[in-house]
Amino acid sequence: MTATSTLTNFDVELANPRISLEERQKRMLNLGFGKVFSEHMIVIPYTAELGWGRGTLKPYGPLVLDPAASVLHYGQAIFEGFKAYRQRDGHIRTFRPEANAHRFNQSARRLAMPELPEALFLEAADLLIRTEQDWVPKAIGESLYLRPFMIATEAALGIKPASEYVFVILASPAGAYFPQGVKPVTVWISDDYVRAAPGGTGAAKCAGNYAASLVAQAQAKGEGCDQVVWLDAVHRRYIEEMGGMNIMFVYQEQGETVIVTPELTGTLLPGITRLSLLQLAKQLGFKSEERRVTVEEWEAALLEGRMTEAFACGTAAVITPIGAVKSRKGEWIINRRETGPVAAKMREALLNLQHGITPDSYGWMHTVC
Ligand code: PLP
Ligand code: COI
Repeated sequence: MTATSTLTNFDVELANPRISLEERQKRMLNLGFGKVFSEHMIVIPYTAELGWGRGTLKPYGPLVLDPAASVLHYGQAIFEGFKAYRQRDGHIRTFRPEANAHRFNQSARRLAMPELPEALFLEAADLLIRTEQDWVPKAIGESLYLRPFMIATEAALGIKPASEYVFVILASPAGAYFPQGVKPVTVWISDDYVRAAPGGTGAAKCAGNYAASLVAQAQAKGEGCDQVVWLDAVHRRYIEEMGGMNIMFVYQEQGETVIVTPELTGTLLPGITRLSLLQLAKQLGFKSEERRVTVEEWEAALLEGRMTEAFACGTAAVITPIGAVKSRKGEWIINRRETGPVAAKMREALLNLQHGITPDSYGWMHTVC
C-alpha cells in the first residue's frame, strides 16, 4: 500500500506501513557496509525522444527489466557514492554532493549515456534523505550512504548507445567498510592484471571497472593480502590506486611532512576524498604533491625511512592505513603494521568536519534538513 502526492519534479509514493522503530533499530545494529537498505528509492526514467521524465520517490523494491535491456549485455552502467551525516546541531548534511553530481556526468559522457542535470541529481538525493531521516545513524564514522546509478534499459541487442535509461538512488545506512574496522591492511601489487589503460574507462565510475577488478582482488586474497594495488598499464611501474580507493604516501623531508599521491593521468578515478585530503593537508601543516610514484621508489623510500606511512582514501572507508606491501619480489612492512599519526590525524579532521564537530571552513557540507 502506498500514499501518493506530488512535488515539483517528483511523485511521492510512501511505503505504508513504515518499518517499526524496533525493526529499524534491529536492522541498524552492527551496520557494516552496503547490506541494509532504507525504505524508499528514487527512480527517474529517460528516453532519447523525451529526455528525463518525471521522477518518483517510491518504496524500495525490485526494478523490472526486459531481458534484452542493453545494460545486461553491454554494460552501460555508472554509479556514484556519497554520504549523509548526522550533525552535532541535529541537522543532516551531505559532503560535497555537487562533486558527485559532476563526476556522475563525466562518467555518463565516457559511457555515451545521457547527462542528468546536476540540480536534479541533488534534488533527488535531498528528497530521499529527507524521507529517510530516521535511517541516518548517529555515531561518528557512521552515515547514510547514497548510491545513485544509471543503467541502459532499452531492449535492443545491436551494439550502440541505448535510447532508454533509468536513474536510481538507493540509501544504505553504513558503518565500517572493512570488517576489521580501521586496522592497517596488507596489499598485493598486481603484476598480472591492470585496472585501467590509457584511453579506457579508468577515470569513470562504471560498473565494468569493478567487474574487471574482482579476479585481481581474489588473487590478492590468495596471496594472503586484503587488497590489490594497481600499477599503470603501460610501464607496469607507476602506482595508481588500491582496490576501489585512491592511495597516499607520507614522506618526511627536511623536518616536513609531505603527502604524495599519484597524479590524475586519466586512468585513475578522481576521488573526492583524495581532493579533500589534499586541501585539508595544508590546514593540518602538511605539504602535498601530486606526482607519479614507482614501486621501486615505494620500496626504497620505506627502506631508507623517508616514507613513514601509506594509506588509501575513499568515501566508503574514509582512510585505510596500509601496514604491509607484498609482491612477487618480496614484502615490506610499513610503520610496524600500525596506523600512523598522519593517517589518524587526517581521518579525524575529515570525520570531524563531516559530522559538524569542527567548522566547515571550505563550504563542503550541504544542509539537507
Ligand atoms: N578509486 C576508485 C576506483 C573508486 O571506486 C573510488 C570510490 O568512489 C575512489 C577511488 C574514491 O573516490 P571518492 O573519494 O570520491 O569516494
Ligand atoms: C569508495 O567509496 O571508496 C568506493 O570505492 C565505493 C565502493 C563501494 C565502490
